[in-house]
Amino acid sequence: MSRLRVSAFTVSADGFGAGPDQNREQPLGRGAEQLHGWFVPTRTFQRAVMKQDGGTTGVDDDFAARSFENLGAWIMGRNMFGPVRGPWPDFQWKGWWGANPPYHVPVFVLTHHPRPPLEMEGGTIFHFVTEGIKAALDRASAAAQGKDVRIGGGAATIRQYLKAGLVDEMHIAVSPILLGKGELLFEGIDLPALGYRVKTHVSTPAAMHLVIER
Ligand SMILES: NC(=O)c1ccc[n+]([C@@H]2O[C@H](COP(=O)([O-])OP(=O)(O)OC[C@H]3O[C@@H](n4cnc5c(N)ncnc54)[C@H](OP(=O)(O)O)[C@@H]3O)[C@@H](O)[C@H]2O)c1
Repeated sequence: MSRLRVSAFTVSADGFGAGPDQNREQPLGRGAEQLHGWFVPTRTFQRAVMKQDGGTTGVDDDFAARSFENLGAWIMGRNMFGPVRGPWPDFQWKGWWGANPPYHVPVFVLTHHPRPPLEMEGGTIFHFVTEGIKAALDRASAAAQGKDVRIGGGAATIRQYLKAGLVDEMHIAVSPILLGKGELLFEGIDLPALGYRVKTHVSTPAAMHLVIER
C-alpha cells in the first residue's frame, strides 16, 4: 500500500531543518552546510546526487539508501525547489540539481505562483501545484501507482502534512550542530497527540536516526 513518507530529513540538535537567510549561495540557509554531514559522504548520496562512485557504507548509508527505495512520486515546497520568491520573473530556474535531478519520478512542488510543468532528463517532471497540500497529495498518489510518496521538505511543507494527519512514517536524522535560527521542523506540533511514537533509533558519530510512526 502506498505510504506518505518523510525520509532522510535532517534537523540540527536544536530542531532546525534549515538555517536563516536561504539564498542562491546558501541553499540550506546560513551556517547549515554541516546539516547533511551524515548524508553527503554516503555511497548513496555520491551515486544518486553527485553521480560518482565511492562513498561510505554502514548505518548512515543504509538510511540514505532506504530513503530512495520504493518511491513513485515526491512532494516538496517551493523553497526546497529553489531560491526564487514571489511571482516567477521567468522560468529560468530549474532546481538545484542540474539537468538530470536525482528524483526520476514526478515531483509536485507546492507554490502560490503557477508555472507550467518542467520536464527534466531521467524521468523527473516538476509539477507546480497551487491548490494546496491535499491536491498535491492526490496527484502524487495517483502518479505513484502504489509506490510511496516522499515529502522531501522543507520544514514548512512537512509541518502542514503532519498537522493534517497525513504522514505515515518519518525518518529524521538529528545532526550534532546548533543553528539557533531558521526553520523549526516541529514548531507548534504535538506529535504524541497526533499519535506518533519513536519506533526505532540508532546513533552514529554523524547523526541520531529516528524512525517515527503512528
Ligand atoms: N534538512 C533537510 O533535510 C532539508 C530537506 C529539504 C530541504 N531543506 C531546506 O529547507 C529549506 C526550505 O524549507 P522551508 O520550510 O523554508 O520551505 P518549503 O517547505 O520548502 O517551502 C515553503 C514554500 O512553499 C510554498 N508552499 C508551501 N505550502 C504551500 C501551500 N499549501 N500552498 C501553496 N504554496 C505552498 C510557499 O511558497 P510560495 O508562496 O513562494 O509559492 C512556501 O513559502 C531550504 O533551505 C532547503 O534547502 C532541508
